[in-house]
Amino acid sequence: MDMNIELIKNAIPLLIAGAGITVEITALSVFFGMLIGIIVALARLSDVKVLRWLGNVYVDFIRGTPLLIQIFLVYFALPSIIGSRVDAFFAAISACSINSGAYVAEVFRGGIQSIDVGQMEAGRSLGMTWWQTMRYIILPQAFKRIIPPLGNEFIAMLKDSSLVSVIGFEELTRRGQLIIARTYASFEIWMAVAIMYLILTFTVARLTGILERKFDTK
Ligand code: ARG
Repeated sequence: MDMNIELIKNAIPLLIAGAGITVEITALSVFFGMLIGIIVALARLSDVKVLRWLGNVYVDFIRGTPLLIQIFLVYFALPSIIGSRVDAFFAAISACSINSGAYVAEVFRGGIQSIDVGQMEAGRSLGMTWWQTMRYIILPQAFKRIIPPLGNEFIAMLKDSSLVSVIGFEELTRRGQLIIARTYASFEIWMAVAIMYLILTFTVARLTGILERKFDTK
């Protein structure tokens, strides 16, 4: 088969710009996902029944429905409730953040629960409050353990953010589709897109490894 090198050369800058947007959506979504995640994890671990219940409902609902449908809900269904159009960027970031939050909540909860209960008891017996013990004793230790699953979440989100292409948001996948619509070069462009995702996920995997070694206090 003929590979059109010229065509790939022209497409690369456009795809790289798209990859930048993919990284942006992913970084913002995992960042907001972490904020949501820590709150939901603490809610699920709290003694207050209502909080536990709310946390459970959130995680069950978000993890139990496809991200694609959540994107549709924010972009197409929300406007009919609030009575105004929703910006594609806003829809992309909010759907991905809310989605990521549910997964990250479980990562945090697992990390926190992996710390021996004796640590909480020791903190409390020294006169620290529940929150102080959590903040200064439990969370710093848990953080080290959650680096690998957080890396997982980042990699998953890098790839799953391709779903926002369905609302026309021009990240890497959507850029690829648009270039193919003009050039019909499916093979070249989808290969280039795949390689770009691979470079991104590979980089995150390596960065996670570095972070892990940095926090390794053994
Ligand atoms: N593909 C799964 C879904 O459709 C997961 C998407 C989100 N992934 C993530 N790591 N937050 O729900």
